[in-house]
Amino acid sequence: MSPLKVLVYGLFIFTYAVACKAQPHNLAAQSEQAAIKVITSGELSAEMEVKAPAREAWDIFATLKLIDVVVPSIFKEIKVLEGDGGVGTILDLIFYSGAPFSSYEERIHKVDERKMSKEIDVYRGGFLEVGFNMFRIRWDVEPKSKTSCITKVTLEFDVKEDSVANISYVSIQPFIGMMKAVSNYLAKNQRSLQHTPNV
Ligand SMILES: *[C@@H]1O[C@H](CO)[C@@H](O)[C@H](O)[C@H]1NC(C)=O
Repeated sequence: MSPLKVLVYGLFIFTYAVACKAQPHNLAAQSEQAAIKVITSGELSAEMEVKAPAREAWDIFATLKLIDVVVPSIFKEIKVLEGDGGVGTILDLIFYSGAPFSSYEERIHKVDERKMSKEIDVYRGGFLEVGFNMFRIRWDVEPKSKTSCITKVTLEFDVKEDSVANISYVSIQPFIGMMKAVSNYLAKNQRSLQHTPNV
């Protein structure tokens, strides 16, 4: 079993916050006049420790190498529609049947090499077709020691008020799957490095 611990913590606000406002000039209607405020945005994140140097993990998350690590285990196919992996790159993600969406396009929005942080937005289809204003994925890599790091995914989303029920489309599981795939890939690489005799 994997010794890696996956922490999931999320601030998942899709409950209906009900605030009762006093109606000073219409006391009779007061009990009927509850102002309902629906909070339609949220954040969800998960992180895990990876037994590889931060730069090695970042080198996967920051580049198109990520595609070969997650296809075909997690995605059926990922097509590069535009770009070379930097800001502006557009990818078409094709899912296996059973996933909530058959495909959607995402666009790399921001890459910070120094902080080892990358943001991707859903660009066409998927969440944008079921009432979301935005759906953003952020990958962060933080060094822990010379030989280990923390990888973290954060989902940030905002849904239109009348589509709030569709927030059930949000799942962090596939992203945890991606982190595990990167971790396994790096662990295999570390082992083969250790087994290479010095020449
Ligand atoms: C919620 O998602 C369904 C697809 O499952 C879609 O048909 C519907 O339009 C969405 N609702 C809203 C209000 O956007």
